[in-house]
Amino acid sequence: MNNTLGKNVKVTLFGESHGKYIGAVVDGLPAGIPVDEERIASALSSRRPHGNISTSRCEADEYTIASGTFRGFTCGTPLCIIIPNADTKSADYDGTARPGHADFTSHVRNAGFEDYRGGGHFSGRLTAALVAAGAVVRGALEAKGIFIGTHIASIGGVFDRPFCNTVEDVKSVKDSPFPVLDPEAGEAMKKIIEDAKSDGDSVGGVLECAVCGIPAGVGEPWFDSAESAISHAVFSVPAVKGVEFGAGFALAAMRGSEANDPFVIKDGGIATETNNCGGILGGLTTGGDVVFRAAVKPTPTIFKKQKTVDLSSGCETETSQTGRHDPCVVHRAASVVTAVTAFAVADMLVSRYGEEYLRP
Ligand SMILES: Cc1cc2nc3c(=O)[nH]c(=O)nc-3n(C[C@H](O)[C@H](O)[C@H](O)COP(=O)(O)O)c2cc1C
Repeated sequence: MNNTLGKNVKVTLFGESHGKYIGAVVDGLPAGIPVDEERIASALSSRRPHGNISTSRCEADEYTIASGTFRGFTCGTPLCIIIPNADTKSADYDGTARPGHADFTSHVRNAGFEDYRGGGHFSGRLTAALVAAGAVVRGALEAKGIFIGTHIASIGGVFDRPFCNTVEDVKSVKDSPFPVLDPEAGEAMKKIIEDAKSDGDSVGGVLECAVCGIPAGVGEPWFDSAESAISHAVFSVPAVKGVEFGAGFALAAMRGSEANDPFVIKDGGIATETNNCGGILGGLTTGGDVVFRAAVKPTPTIFKKQKTVDLSSGCETETSQTGRHDPCVVHRAASVVTAVTAFAVADMLVSRYGEEYLRP
């Protein structure tokens, strides 16, 4: 199985939800990138469960940087971050295939040898390592004036306002555990999550992510288009089931005259007046904000009764899960989407300009 993302800046994930550690190894970062521990802690805190709307599994994420740094900077060797799993309750898992989760597919692929506890290698728990490593890459990008942020566009039919003054908006949601631009909408979303939770059910939603400050001409035509690279990374986030750039699927119902983004001169350079293309044309960045949305499905593990098959007997049965689960993963996935987007963007930039580009 392949667990590595990227061609130039590569991140490899390892671990299982109830194993001793999870972690990430980042290859391809040049020496000299600051490794700011406060930045890593702040990013991890935004992903950690908060309050009544998240799982009660509470991991302190006391990470260790096992290699790749010297005197607070990357030193040109693989950067390895490991995080212990300290708050596990394996008795909650009996190997039943939870509908909507990866238990069945993992069982087939691993011929019954899989560690199914807490979803094993397929658990959202592993995203902590992505967020920690992504914080280092985000720091390198920010030093180049490239800012990435994600907010909750909608949950259960309640909508946040879209990004408008994008850089300020992106900075305003930075490392927020419930990133919204309209606090009132945020409260209504939390209520929807609480209602689903009290029904023993779950809800999904949509995340909107923006990359501000990326130069024009980054990406590749055809197969490694900027859309392909970013969506490849974003689809690796557990529970993401759809990605659209700019006006996305709504473009299909527009006329060309509505959909096209007119070119104008802005601040002495060529820019698009609107951004229906999501900052990408022909697979290459336009120099405008790269904007996309990711659909996040409702958390698979729910307490309601559902049909399933017992994987050991091969017989149909019913399951109603117990244990500790997120009634909604949308807000927790936001920091993960930001992190993997940072990896995809760093990878594209190194492909275009070489690894020196990332050194401050
Ligand atoms: C941060 C985060 C936390 C998650 N927590 C849970 C959880 O508590 N329970 C659960 O069933 N799924 C959870 N998920 C989603 C599952 O990991 C995911 O749906 C599953 O691995 C199947 O993958 P797929 O939905 O991408 O096909 C979480 C996802 C993320 C990103």
